[in-house]
Amino acid sequence: MSENLYSNFIGAKAENIEMLKEFILQILDHQKEWRKSFYVYDKSLYDEKNFTNEKIQNELDKFLIRAEKNLPYFHPRYSAQMLKDPAIPTILGYLTFMLSNPNNHAYEGGPVTTEMEMEVTELMLKMTGLKTGWGHLASGGSLANLEALWACRDFYKDGTVYFSSVSHYSWKRICKILNIPNYKEINIDKFFSIDLNHLEDELKKNKALMVMANLGSTGAGSVDDIESILKLKEKYEFHLHIDAAYGGFVRSIILDNDYNEINFSNDLFVSEFVYSQLKALKDADSITIDPHKQGLISYGAGAVLYKNEELRQVMLNTAPYTYHKLDKPNIGMFSLEGSRPGAMAAACYLTYQVIPPNKNGLGEIISSSLASAKKFYELISQSEKYLNLYSPNLDINCFYLKKYSDVKTHNEAIIKIYNQLSVEAAEPEFILSKFVISPEQTERVLPNLKNEERENFIALRTVFMKHWGSLDDFYYVNKLFETLSDVITD
Ligand SMILES: Cc1ncc(COP(=O)(O)O)c(C=O)c1O
Repeated sequence: MSENLYSNFIGAKAENIEMLKEFILQILDHQKEWRKSFYVYDKSLYDEKNFTNEKIQNELDKFLIRAEKNLPYFHPRYSAQMLKDPAIPTILGYLTFMLSNPNNHAYEGGPVTTEMEMEVTELMLKMTGLKTGWGHLASGGSLANLEALWACRDFYKDGTVYFSSVSHYSWKRICKILNIPNYKEINIDKFFSIDLNHLEDELKKNKALMVMANLGSTGAGSVDDIESILKLKEKYEFHLHIDAAYGGFVRSIILDNDYNEINFSNDLFVSEFVYSQLKALKDADSITIDPHKQGLISYGAGAVLYKNEELRQVMLNTAPYTYHKLDKPNIGMFSLEGSRPGAMAAACYLTYQVIPPNKNGLGEIISSSLASAKKFYELISQSEKYLNLYSPNLDINCFYLKKYSDVKTHNEAIIKIYNQLSVEAAEPEFILSKFVISPEQTERVLPNLKNEERENFIALRTVFMKHWGSLDDFYYVNKLFETLSDVITD
């Protein structure tokens, strides 16, 4: 039993909550002494020492009852979306600085947490293999994508933006926000990766501003062939942005303690193809990578990394009332977002001190999730009732019902399962999600399925992001498979 997989999390049954309480008390004691250490000669304006506040208590009582309606995102039976418990160091790092609320837009707003953000960024550069370059945290992947395309639009001036049709919805939206009419969605191949022939045909027609490749698409977790896209880059010259919001931290599984790449082996739980794309991440020009997805951090933590320092200059922003310490890093001068929580940088910092993003830290945790996806794929392969939609690149599996030969009747049956095993059901045994693909995508992926009415095709989708899925000899993965085998569709 590896300490890493257990002691860093509250636990599905709140196993480590007492440990967390102890740490939180230490933080509060520290906060007390720290506050008192400033201006010791001033007197307290509070004449009573132990106030009680009934209003807070009353509202908190109601609030906590309301909080119980929240879904059990922490539980391995919840496999619907990219939701996972933040690691304990994340909670502690965030809490410590939330109490004094630094703002990392300018150095003077959060000197300690700005330095932590710089260190976390350095670590992410090392982990992605960019090594040199710059970057910063953002509130999420959409904002990171927006900033990267904004910087590219203003730096390169013109050209078309290319991305596959399973890319995150933010890409089309961002093109509209940035008033970039020339964007083109590229077809997918049967593995949900960008179709390289289609991409090249389009590159021949129109000069590219950016090609955006996915390292973990949102719906299917599919990985684009970055190695081949790099060859196209040599021929057609473009900025390669990799949306690794979801899959970027998976690179930690191929890194030793010194962040050197290790050789491929079957113990990695990814295919040789995915291993090669994880390696190729280092050749991107810019990367979106979200600590709040596979990186164990709570929401509000995305990041964007750039290889070329010159892209900073198109974003340069000054203001007469801030950025007074010009000899220090003022991240807000070079980022789209203004105020950003110093607490978030602290959460990332403490988490990656405890759980470094390499194979013996975060990589071990992610491998455990990848193992669940692999196991589930194998179970579905042997099933009489279901088929895999694809072999998972990462830890997102999609599957569908075997017995139907047309989309319409298939969808009717699969929705019955979804209604029993999703947020739609009152007390679902497991909570899954759907993956809905267009008729064009269906034709590519499932060419033999009849679809006279050209409907979208609906598959069931699981996100095995919680590493607990593989523990105890895949206890929860097996249970999920049993539940799916018994579920009624007629
Ligand atoms: C590949 C990818 N890119 C971008 C995003 C957007 O990230 P966020 O929701 O943090 O804005 C997501 C979210 O799921 C994603 O999976």
